[in-house]
Amino acid sequence: MNPISFFQRMIMILLFVPTVITAQDDHAEREPHRPFIHFTPKKGWMNDPNGMVYYNGTYHLFFQHNPDSAVWGPMHWGHATSTDLVRWKEQPIALYPDALGTIFSGSAVIDVHNTAGFGNNAMVAIYTNHNAAMKKEGFEKAETQSIAYSLDEGKTWTKYKGNPVLPNPGIRDFRDPKVMWYEPDQKWIMTLATLDHITFYSSPDLKNWKEESRFGKGIGAHSGVWECPDLFPLDYEGKKIWVLIVNLNRGGPNGGSATQYFVGDFDGVAFKSFDTQIRWLDYGPDEYAGITWSNTGDRKIWIGWMSNWKYANIVPTKNWRSATTIARELRLIKAGNQYMVASEPVKTLEKAVSKTFNATHIRPGNYNLSAKAGKLSGAAKLDLSHTHTASFTITLSNDLGEQVVIGYDRDKNEYFIDRSKSGKVDFKKEFAGRYTAPRLANTPLIDLILVIDNASVELFADGGLTTMTSIFFPNKDYTDINITTINKNLKSISLSQLKAE
Ligand code: FRU
Repeated sequence: MNPISFFQRMIMILLFVPTVITAQDDHAEREPHRPFIHFTPKKGWMNDPNGMVYYNGTYHLFFQHNPDSAVWGPMHWGHATSTDLVRWKEQPIALYPDALGTIFSGSAVIDVHNTAGFGNNAMVAIYTNHNAAMKKEGFEKAETQSIAYSLDEGKTWTKYKGNPVLPNPGIRDFRDPKVMWYEPDQKWIMTLATLDHITFYSSPDLKNWKEESRFGKGIGAHSGVWECPDLFPLDYEGKKIWVLIVNLNRGGPNGGSATQYFVGDFDGVAFKSFDTQIRWLDYGPDEYAGITWSNTGDRKIWIGWMSNWKYANIVPTKNWRSATTIARELRLIKAGNQYMVASEPVKTLEKAVSKTFNATHIRPGNYNLSAKAGKLSGAAKLDLSHTHTASFTITLSNDLGEQVVIGYDRDKNEYFIDRSKSGKVDFKKEFAGRYTAPRLANTPLIDLILVIDNASVELFADGGLTTMTSIFFPNKDYTDINITTINKNLKSISLSQLKAE
């Protein structure tokens, strides 16, 4: 053998081997079910979004976090930031447990008027301290409200020495403070979940709180504990209408945890709901603890946790658990004489669009979208508009025969998501199922947006009047989309690939 060619071959092998190993490593690094465009912590557990606040061009998202394990445990506030609500960057942990307890859910504000004296434009977090040790001893006072502040845009935090700022009067579930500035009276309002109702408190300085009123006993859905509330105004044709969000665990429309809301009036002291109607912000099985950003002016941007307490701790991911929903913009719609909150993906989602396929006037029957637009890879947004309300299905599938079917049933006038054959479903009996939501609009034309990621789908129908969120865990990512319409033409389809990096 020519010694030079042997030498050359050895060099080639040496160069080639590491390349192959790197490629395999890259492949191994893409953990199954890790979303492409939804926020997940790099490792550990996440539940509720907390302390969302917009400041100086940055959206802050804090979250319930157990950094040491992928199941719920001692709660910290994790932290992530974004300039467009789509691309998130995880930051160091913001709040660690302390002598008063672990750090449960809450909110954050920018103290523009320096009412607390922490400094101009201090970012102030208002959260629940949960003292698990007290809880074990049977105390009913384990939950209190505390504050912390940051003078460097959320990077470092100082806990207030006078914590807790709101001691517990003897209520077992006394948590998740959402604070807002009430301009007419120049005071802060805290909306707090207190077991089976909401208690409103006010404060001039975020440190001293006084009870103002209570709302909700006997009104709305009550089959579980009330948690993670939010109170804010939305504009309707120049009129200020107040929305009160109350998360409920359990007893949602599709079982388990879900977000209900009330519409009414708030005068700085009390909230009065216009009616006793039960309304859901999202009908799917996997949206919970959703609340809004503060300091965004008239825009109201909302985000939820994409799971359900029924199985959140045992979903089949390994190094981390749970993602947030896509950020959504809220607006009021009047259907008949009822106000309803509609939610749709934030407009900045368009920034993640890398490629779009469009088709119009599609005949009834089966339409193999992937054959025309290419296989699904990564996340996507599907916009569909229908000339008439006719039944249709959209099937996401892989070559293992696993699938999620999303659709509209004209006879029942309802939307549905069926994940019974979606892949890994055995970890919890009720996970495999078909979930439904009423069509609330009565317009002749259906329009629909689906935000599809590799472990979730979010449905926004009729301008976001009916919304559903569902997670799933296929053994291989879905690559195919098939649309079937009954009787009527589909007016248009638009499939956009989404890339967050
Ligand atoms: C809602 C919730 C909150 C609580 C937090 C604890 O999912 O139970 O009420 O503050 O989670 O992690």
